Amino acid sequence: MTVRRRLRSMPHASAISFQGKLINTAFHPAKAAIGWTNPAKPVLQREAKDHKVCCGIIRRAKAMSKRTEDLFQRVYEAKTSQEQAAAYAEWADSYDQAMAESGYVSPPQLAALLAEHCTPGSSAVLDVGCGTGLSGIALKDAGFAEIDGADISDAMLAEAAKKNLYRKLTVVDLMKGIPEPDDTYEGAFSTGTFTLGHVGPEAIPEVIRVLKPGGVFCLTVSDQSWIDQGYEEKLPALGDGLFEVAVNEMHDHVVSHNMQAHFLALKKLG
Ligand SMILES: C[S@@+](CC[C@H](N)C(=O)[O-])C[C@H]1O[C@@H](n2cnc3c(N)ncnc32)[C@H](O)[C@@H]1O
Repeated sequence: MTVRRRLRSMPHASAISFQGKLINTAFHPAKAAIGWTNPAKPVLQREAKDHKVCCGIIRRAKAMSKRTEDLFQRVYEAKTSQEQAAAYAEWADSYDQAMAESGYVSPPQLAALLAEHCTPGSSAVLDVGCGTGLSGIALKDAGFAEIDGADISDAMLAEAAKKNLYRKLTVVDLMKGIPEPDDTYEGAFSTGTFTLGHVGPEAIPEVIRVLKPGGVFCLTVSDQSWIDQGYEEKLPALGDGLFEVAVNEMHDHVVSHNMQAHFLALKKLG
């Protein structure tokens, strides 16, 4: 099922609009440029037309302020967790506005994917790198009620707390470990965190550890990170005996930056 069809089945998320225009969330042929293939989901001819519309929208979508551009650059180029946390502390109170301006379209699309793999009403989920809670809004809209949030930045978590979406919010450095027992959650979710300057593929097994057997971790990996952080090569070894890649699709991510991301669903084995 394409994300567009998934969103159609979720009335609250049926239209992702940016600057008054409908953003096409269809399967993106940019995957061809990086040699990505998914034999189970061939590109459909009729979506080529949608893609041209999408590219036109991206070219017109350059609405970001200089400050937002600078903060984007700082968080993506951070060399340490401290640099990362400092940049997000500065960004926390204006992050939601900046992401709205940037055409950040991933959270509802990824929440729709998670809802396909976990029954929203009865599943406890962990929002990994939850930030200010934009992802929590998308999870709530998709029907999830028991949502815990984890993030390295207490300033971002303070913003998330104001939204009253989460059962629990915890300061966590994913590269050091999640303070939860094994087999705790039915699902895990992460948008915008497995990316350059943030968290690499090495953190995936720790997220899988806190899932129940059969649980699913849905995450975005930006197209650039996919290449620079070596996901293609590392995922098979990381997943060996631990998880299977149930879904790997390419979709729009941050429209103003013409960024696409891999949308992954990783299913815990056992
Ligand atoms: C681009 S934001 C995404 C936030 C939210 N998921 C969203 O979709 O708006 C990335 C988040 O990852 C968090 N982060 C970066 N490195 C982290 C780490 N090592 N452990 C936990 N969170 C981290 C940042 O603090 C930030 O809130």
